[in-house]
Amino acid sequence: MTTIVIKGGRTLQGTVRVSGSKNAGLPLLFAALLTAERCTMRGLPRVVDILTTLRLLERLGARVGDDEFSSIMVEAREFYSTEAPYDLVKTMRASFLALGPLVARTGRARVSTPGGCAIGSRPVDIHLAGLERMGVRIRHAHGYVEAEAEGPRLRGAKLPLDFPSVGATENLMMAATLADGVTVIENAAREPEIENLAGALVRMGARIEGAGTSNITIEGVRELGGFDVQVIPDRIEAGTLLIAGAIAGGSVYVEGARADHLDSLLVKLEEAGVEVESRDGGIAVTRRDRLVAADVRTSPHPGFPTDLQAQFMALMATAEGRSVIIEDIFENRFMHVQELVRMGADIKVEGKTAAVRGVPQLSGAPVMATDLRASVCLVLAALAAHNTTEISRVYHLDRGYERLEEKLSSVGACISRVRA
Ligand code: EPU
Repeated sequence: MTTIVIKGGRTLQGTVRVSGSKNAGLPLLFAALLTAERCTMRGLPRVVDILTTLRLLERLGARVGDDEFSSIMVEAREFYSTEAPYDLVKTMRASFLALGPLVARTGRARVSTPGGCAIGSRPVDIHLAGLERMGVRIRHAHGYVEAEAEGPRLRGAKLPLDFPSVGATENLMMAATLADGVTVIENAAREPEIENLAGALVRMGARIEGAGTSNITIEGVRELGGFDVQVIPDRIEAGTLLIAGAIAGGSVYVEGARADHLDSLLVKLEEAGVEVESRDGGIAVTRRDRLVAADVRTSPHPGFPTDLQAQFMALMATAEGRSVIIEDIFENRFMHVQELVRMGADIKVEGKTAAVRGVPQLSGAPVMATDLRASVCLVLAALAAHNTTEISRVYHLDRGYERLEEKLSSVGACISRVRA
């Protein structure tokens, strides 16, 4: 069994570089299915979710290669299969993003339904309703969504989304690039990852306006070419590293972090008493005194990201006073609470609200990771805790954090991976 062992109580000092974004990289990889030409992505993080997606693309028939350490090429000249099988989709919900590109390019796709996942039920109804409006027949059979285009091309349509789903916006935007006519996605997600994807699609020859706003207009074209794009920095990893600096105390500069992607977190860090300095090439945080409580409520971008809720809760667990944390995106994203409580935190959960009363000192304990962000929240708590914390089930962490132990060690944390 592999565990991560952290000896807490060290302040952090120095510079750490943020990796490319997992959640921007994943849709870019699927966008490569829209063309027979080569697509190059620079700065993709080497994390398990990205590697799983590369395996899926290969199974579909794409050629995958890398020329230098940080760039990956995908070439989907022909398909052996248009099926995204259960064994891959069950490990990573983002595989559902194969659906839009496959059905737009080949007229059909068979993609396993993602099923439930630890952080909530996470249905795909918004993806499917949008595709149906674009002329895709959807059938559910044997745990799969079987999609078939009614005509030779999908047709452009008005797509009002019930909720600004990130994945549905990405799937539908990709599908619409090859549709006949104009598609308008209303109530679209506005996350920076959507803009990164739209930028790549435009380089492929797609006609897209409004990505990054609530209304995205896509005028379909007959064919797309390849792309060569840089993946944006991972705002969630950057936010996690900033919170690490704040919880451990000291001063950390996160090189590559973009303040324009992290506004809602930076405001809350300042409210909690952290000094924040945004520079051109990154963001620095310094924490001298004890933190003070700040309330957060997660919401779609530009609101406070659900993917930073667990990490912020770890921070509040050590702050002075009582903070209220409301999780409005996923119904079951408080699994870290019980583990934080085992480390001495005082947290009460009622429905989607957690009341956190900060304690002067957390204490190290053996704890268990339950999902990606929950696991990193335990790493953060451990940095501030008295004594040693041992975190098991660290494979969750490897899905989305690149070289985390190495990065935290480089700024002074005492953290190591132990293989028993
Ligand atoms: N939803 C529906 N129906 C749908 C789609 C979504 O009801 O058809 C609901 C979900 O159940 C959820 C909410 O809408 O309650 C938000 O889901 P969304 O579709 O926006 O999320 P996602 O695309 O599945 C991406 C990230 C998540 C991140 C969310 C929210 C990727 C690969 N994943 O997921 O990242 O939490 O957006 O920002 O981009 C993570 O990295 O740890 C992670 C979970």
